[in-house]
Amino acid sequence: MKYDFGKPIDRRNTSCLKYDFKAENGKSDDVLPLWIADMDISAPSEVIEAIKNRAEHGIFGYSMPKRDYFEVVARWFEKRHGWAADPDKFICTPGVVFAISTLIRALTGEGDAVMLCQPVYYPFETAVTNNNRKLVVSELKNTDGFYTVDFADFERKIAENKVKAFILCSPHNPVGRVWTVEELEKMGEICQKYGVFVISDEIHADFTFGNYRHTVFPTVNKKFEANCAVCTSPSKSFNLAGMQISNIYIPDTSVRKKFEAELDKMGYWEPNILGVTACRAAYAYGAQWLDELKVYLEGNLDFLRKYLAENIPEIKLIEPQGTYLAWLDFRALKLGDKELQRFIEEKAKLWLDEGYVFGKGGSGFERINLACPRATLKEALDRLKSALKTLK
Ligand SMILES: Cc1ncc(COP(=O)(O)O)c(C=O)c1O
Repeated sequence: MKYDFGKPIDRRNTSCLKYDFKAENGKSDDVLPLWIADMDISAPSEVIEAIKNRAEHGIFGYSMPKRDYFEVVARWFEKRHGWAADPDKFICTPGVVFAISTLIRALTGEGDAVMLCQPVYYPFETAVTNNNRKLVVSELKNTDGFYTVDFADFERKIAENKVKAFILCSPHNPVGRVWTVEELEKMGEICQKYGVFVISDEIHADFTFGNYRHTVFPTVNKKFEANCAVCTSPSKSFNLAGMQISNIYIPDTSVRKKFEAELDKMGYWEPNILGVTACRAAYAYGAQWLDELKVYLEGNLDFLRKYLAENIPEIKLIEPQGTYLAWLDFRALKLGDKELQRFIEEKAKLWLDEGYVFGKGGSGFERINLACPRATLKEALDRLKSALKTLK
């Protein structure tokens, strides 16, 4: 291995949401945070070098990426995911959630219905409700720890509510599914039938375990292109969330124009130059780092699986096929949402993402972030194991 992912890095006092805002979030200072989805692992040295070089130039005036930047982005997706994206159809935004919210405003009206499959990344729900759209939920089905789309319910909810847009999470945070071509095709066909625009959030695309392969939504069927947007970003893959850069692919020209008009309304024009620099370097030079990181994270997942089975079998791992987040089933403890939260924070001294915030199917679950040195993960699991003894 060229890169060292096991070295602990002190993130305190770096304006870091994960470690520096405990009091503001009502957490005690001694909780170990494994909640928000960024990594306690340094970005690739190649990216750091590119940022340093750009910083040394000393001028940070208004900046815009040219076509060659989007060619680098497109090349990454071609090589990694076999997706021949057209570089001219990407637009930069300062984040994927920002883009989803903008797409909702650009393509739907107040009161229109937007659908999600919960449990799902919770800012999707607020992107819908904060924009005064009607939230429609089709719950994922959990069959012995394996989550699938309930296609009958999916279609019924779309038809009954005249849904205008569907936010697809692919791979799916928090349940870790990497949707198969067949599943994507079924979702796409139903959306096509009812004229539902698909906002495909593929921010976790680069994290698939073992033989699971991510499929970029519009590659499933060319006819889906006109009715979708693909939200991509280097932020998860290379730990660049604070750089505020994402690349949104909108194949249809008229949709792209509506999106640009909405960006105009908000006065958003140029991306952050350091974000552009970091993204370009990551996609151009970060492949080996990412490949090695995935091996390390798969090791963390193996560690977690073994630790739970050997020490705390009452907590069940929902096997993730992708993402660096693990969805843990605590239902055997028979605690209510708030009781479980108190147990995690006050007894185990951990800060995780509470399952119930991902939707009602998340009750009794916790999401834990595996993108940390193994020693941090072990510390978290040791805390959990000790806390569980207090319940017996
Ligand atoms: C599915 C998903 N979409 C979007 C985001 C956040 O993206 P951004 O920081 O670019 O808004 C996350 C972060 O955890 C995520 O899991």
